[in-house]
Parts: sequence; C-alpha cells; structure tokens
Amino acid sequence: MITVEDLHKSYGDTVAVDGITFTAEPGRIFGLLGPNGAGKTTSIDCIAGVHKPTSGRITVGEFDIVRNARQAKAQMGVVPQEVALYEEVSARENLHFWGGACGLKGATLKERATEVLELIGLIDRAEEAIKKYSGGMKRRLNFGCGIMHQPPVLLLDEPTVGIDPQSRVRLLDLVREQAAAGVTVLYTTHYMEEAEALCDEIAIIDHGTIHAQGSLEELRTLVGEKDMVRLTGTFDPGTVSRALSDNLPEVEIMESDEEALLVSMMDAAGNLVALLGVLHDTGAVLRETSVRRPSLETLFIKMTGKELRE
Ligand SMILES: Nc1ncnc2c1ncn2[C@@H]1O[C@H](COP(=O)(O)OP(=O)(O)OP(=O)(O)O)[C@@H](O)[C@H]1O
Ligand SMILES: [Mg+2]
Repeated sequence: MITVEDLHKSYGDTVAVDGITFTAEPGRIFGLLGPNGAGKTTSIDCIAGVHKPTSGRITVGEFDIVRNARQAKAQMGVVPQEVALYEEVSARENLHFWGGACGLKGATLKERATEVLELIGLIDRAEEAIKKYSGGMKRRLNFGCGIMHQPPVLLLDEPTVGIDPQSRVRLLDLVREQAAAGVTVLYTTHYMEEAEALCDEIAIIDHGTIHAQGSLEELRTLVGEKDMVRLTGTFDPGTVSRALSDNLPEVEIMESDEEALLVSMMDAAGNLVALLGVLHDTGAVLRETSVRRPSLETLFIKMTGKELRE
C-alpha cells in the first residue's frame, strides 16, 4: 500500500508536483497518466525516497518515507524511467548486483536471479554483456532488477518507452502477474491505451496536479461521456421509442428504423441487459449488438484542454 497526502515538490522556482493525494492498494495497478513534464517521475522519486518532498506525507506499507526511510525503501522495487544497468556485464551479473544491493546473498541470490531471468524471457541470453541487448531486452532486464527481492510495492516509471511490441506485451503481462500476486503497483505512463488496458485505477496528472481520478468506468462517468450502442435486427420504431421513454428514459435514441437502432447511454456495459430486456418486450428481433466506449483520450482533452502526445 502507498499513501500520498498533499505532496508538493519544487526544484527552486519550478513547481513539479503541486499537491497530489492518492492511495495505491495491494493487488491493484494504480496508473499515473500524464504528458511530458507532468510530474510523474518527481512523484515516483519522492515515493522512492530519492527526493525529499517539499511538503506532504508519503507512507509505504506502514512506514513514512522521510522518518523511516530505510524500512520504507526495503518494501519497494523501483523500475526507473532511465534504464539503470551496467552495460559491460551480463544480465545475470546485473541481477546479482541489484539483488545484492537489496540484501539477497549466496544461493538465494543466485536462485532468484535464474528465476527472474526465466520470468523476463532472457535466460538464453543471460551470460551476454547487455550492451549487445536490444532496447526491449534492456527494458525487461530493468524490470527484472526491480523485482529481484520480491518487494510488496513496485514503482514503474514509463517502463515500456522505446520497446518493441513483443517485449511490451510481455512486460505488461509481468506487471499484471505482480498485481495478481498481491503486489501494490504504481505505474506511470503517457500511453492512454496502456492506462486503459492495464490500470485498475487511473489518476490523470498534468502540471503537478491530479485532474481526475478513479477507475476507467468512473472517469468516463465523471466526464459524462455516454456510450453508443448499435443494434441491428427487426424493430418497430414507434413501439421502441415509447417503450424506451417509459422504461429507460435516460437512453437517448440517435437513429432508429426497422432494421437498426442507435442509442446513447451511460455505462452501456452495466445497463445493456436492461436495454435488451425492454427491446425484447417490444417484440424486436435482435441480430447484432455493439458497444462503443468514449476513449480516455476524449476525457483527457476535456480535463486538461490538450492532447496527450508522445
Ligand atoms: N532535477 C530537476 N531540477 C529542476 N527541475 C526539474 C527536475 N526534475 C524535473 N524538473 C521539472 O519538474 C517538472 C516535472 O518533471 P517530471 O520529470 O517529474 O515530469 P514527468 O511527468 O516525469 O515527465 P516525462 O514524461 O517527460 O518523464 C518539469 O517541469 C521538469 O522540468
Ligand atoms: Mg518522467
């Protein structure tokens, strides 16, 4: 568990983080989604104990990162934005180094390194100097170093930037596996699709401030974006219109004829059964149904007034 309360961090006159508050829970992936310069790395660095907050309070597990730095740090694995590896030595030696720095020794350290090499899919290349590795391989090893000591809290700062698609898929699966094993995961990204696909909870951060926070579903509802549901089959438009306004007045008909119906509604996934029930009772025959979600991109633009570019 990570709790961040009213965190502020300035570098001289530059306010990098301007009062953010959130809680990341065990077994869940908490996403900080924001563009360049939003304050993601500064937040991670304050939580990791690399930078001291200007004000505010951070606890990791039950430990305060300022007052009980040593115990708090022992709870965490950190996968930094800039790959932190020794280029001249092998993947295995890098893992030995990072595992050793986290207190692993002897046979335990060696066994864990082999286990991690298998997990990140680099066991076949384990003895090679990593300067010969691709960007994606280095990213996977960077992740491996962060999980060597099996920390209950994992901080990942844009771990998939510059990665090949295969490595990305693998890395995202590894992150999911960590959460499934009960780890508290804090994940920063500027990739909308990653936040959507990966995170249980998302905070949209820009200019050091959290603009919105919640599950993807909650964020969508917050902005009032409605889902579109397209249905094909056989309908009686007059009956459908009366049935919907009587039973589901919040559903808005966008287009309607004998063969197709397009409606707009909140939380279509949650309300689809009710919609289909009402349509069924009108004697409609349904052939196909498709739901279109508003994208997080639309929400981001609405909240921050700008696009999230790479
Ligand atoms: N060491 C530093 N000294 C001075 N200013 C800094 C320092 N580190 C970050 N900043 C500034 O703080 C703000 C937030 O930067 P930060 O690196 O936290 O953003 P970020 O969200 O991680 O961005 P990116 O997506 O580019 O990694 C920026 O304005 C940045 O220029
Ligand atoms: Mg950063």
